[in-house]
Amino acid sequence: MEEGKGRVCVTGGTGFIGSWIIKRLLEDGYTVNTTVRADPGQNKDVSFLTNLPNATQKLNIFNADLSNPKSFNAAIEGCIGVFHTATPIDFELEEPEEIVTKRTIDGALGILKACKNSKTLKRVIYTSSASAVYTQDKEEDTMDESYWSDVNILRTLKPFAWSYGVSKTLAEKAVLEFGEQHGLDIVTLVPPFVVDLSFVLSYLARFIVY
Ligand SMILES: NC(=O)c1ccc[n+]([C@@H]2O[C@H](COP(=O)([O-])OP(=O)(O)OC[C@H]3O[C@@H](n4cnc5c(N)ncnc54)[C@H](OP(=O)(O)O)[C@@H]3O)[C@@H](O)[C@H]2O)c1
Repeated sequence: MEEGKGRVCVTGGTGFIGSWIIKRLLEDGYTVNTTVRADPGQNKDVSFLTNLPNATQKLNIFNADLSNPKSFNAAIEGCIGVFHTATPIDFELEEPEEIVTKRTIDGALGILKACKNSKTLKRVIYTSSASAVYTQDKEEDTMDESYWSDVNILRTLKPFAWSYGVSKTLAEKAVLEFGEQHGLDIVTLVPPFVVDLSFVLSYLARFIVY
């Protein structure tokens, strides 16, 4: 497969943000390794990825799961960059928070270990979340890198998506600490709410009564 500008890994290729990153990387001339969870029944339609412009020549799809951090190794090999977007999103609280948090942290650290051992990797972009920042006992108009959500408040008050907030807060801290300890170039992004407007409009349209 042609390398173009270099090979970049995007975890969570089936996700909203991951798939947009893949599209942009392919358009910009990068070769992309992406990860999706194994689909034994083979019902998952990934044609929205394989049909992207340049995908035939430059997109490789690997199976990997955060529950098995080493499963990401093959996708990271030979890459110059990793965008780690995959994360458990369990707003309905189907699993206990500590399991979701452990999977999020162990998965991220496993990916970072593969990056540390790589001879080609230059930078890791980790997608955190505003939920790692805004749950605090004080309200501020402006927040910076020194602000973190208080996981004790999340665990006690249990607001909507609280376990996701705990997992994203503790995972970003663990990711930054790993970067410091091992001299890995890691950038964390803290998006607030990234949304497909057409999805929101079609959702809202269900409430319109003619
Ligand atoms: N969208 C937002 O508003 C927003 C805001 C702030 C931060 N973020 C962050 O941005 C990143 C991407 O979010 P998104 O909105 O694109 O979410 P998404 O569409 O739900 O995508 C999540 C991705 O993670 C994968 N995933 C979940 N559990 C996994 C596991 N155990 N092993 C491997 N992959 C797993 C999913 O794979 P499957 O398809 O197999 O489920 C999917 O590809 C996340 O880190 C999220 O915290 C998003």
